Amino acid sequence: MAASRLALLLLVLAVAAARHALPAAGSDAHPGYDGAEDTCGVPAAAAAAAGRMEEYGSGRILDITHAYRADLPAFAPGAVTGPVVRLRDSMANGTLYNLSELKMECHMGTHVDAPGHMNQGHFAAGLDVDKLDLDLLNGPTLLVDTPRNTNITAKAMESLNIPKGVRRVLFRTLNTDRKLMWKKGGDLSYVGFTEDGAQWLVDNTDIKLVGIDYLSVAAYDHLITAHVVFFKIPNKSLPSIAELSTD
Ligand SMILES: *[C@@H]1O[C@H](CO)[C@@H](O)[C@H](O)[C@H]1NC(C)=O
Ligand SMILES: *[C@@H]1O[C@H](CO)[C@@H](O)[C@H](O)[C@H]1NC(C)=O
Ligand SMILES: *[C@@H]1O[C@H](CO)[C@@H](O)[C@H](O)[C@H]1NC(C)=O
Ligand SMILES: *[C@@H]1O[C@H](CO)[C@@H](O)[C@H](O)[C@H]1NC(C)=O
Repeated sequence: MAASRLALLLLVLAVAAARHALPAAGSDAHPGYDGAEDTCGVPAAAAAAAGRMEEYGSGRILDITHAYRADLPAFAPGAVTGPVVRLRDSMANGTLYNLSELKMECHMGTHVDAPGHMNQGHFAAGLDVDKLDLDLLNGPTLLVDTPRNTNITAKAMESLNIPKGVRRVLFRTLNTDRKLMWKKGGDLSYVGFTEDGAQWLVDNTDIKLVGIDYLSVAAYDHLITAHVVFFKIPNKSLPSIAELSTD
């Protein structure tokens, strides 16, 4: 199954202004939580000095990807998923180069679900992550804050009033407040879509890209059912994106 998934090294998203949009995350290309700047790989000062890194169309690009680090959360408490990074060959040990080796489960960190992740038809048809439409994955994106006292149910979705025509949405939830992506052990009480929330999105919006601030778009109690609602759309599976930074 691992082959059906791919960690996205870089997901670039422009945040569009809209009724429920929040201010874009600072001006850093690598926004992070307070006190955790180092974990994005680039020292905060260097990232700030570098300023804007790229543009996509007329929009602004923010890299919200988590760096691979040894304490990335595993999905389930106790699961061993990596990443394990080791220096396989080291100049310090006499080789002419340093060569690192990375070993990890693909379904961790900032990732997108492959169309075949929970749809055997898609899997059998070879619809892997490399078949996803890059134009869909990149572009103006609405950032919304979900009500903090609920999972993303149909009722919660309705209350967000996401305008028709919006195709990409990042849902910022209680997960961000709880800093779950910084909690090594994994926590199954994360907020995600319920089955009826997923169905409401499919029936009532034009959203084709769903992003959420943890390792699964689906709340644990709806882990399979909510995914299936998204993945059953013919050739238009809705990828999930782990973690969206605060600040
Ligand atoms: C260098 O070699 C020593 C002895 O074989 C080993 O213990 C150490 O882990 C190696 N270090 C690296 C960075 O390869
Ligand atoms: C190679 O790896 C060693 C050991 O981690 C490190 O001290 C050294 O700076 C690295 N060299 C280069 C050129 O990156
Ligand atoms: C969301 O659902 C999970 C179970 O899937 C539960 O543990 C959690 O408390 C719920 N969160 C909220 C805010 O209702
Ligand atoms: C979905 O993609 C598969 C594989 O490319 C193709 O055989 C099938 O006809 C497509 N279905 C629809 C509804 O577009």
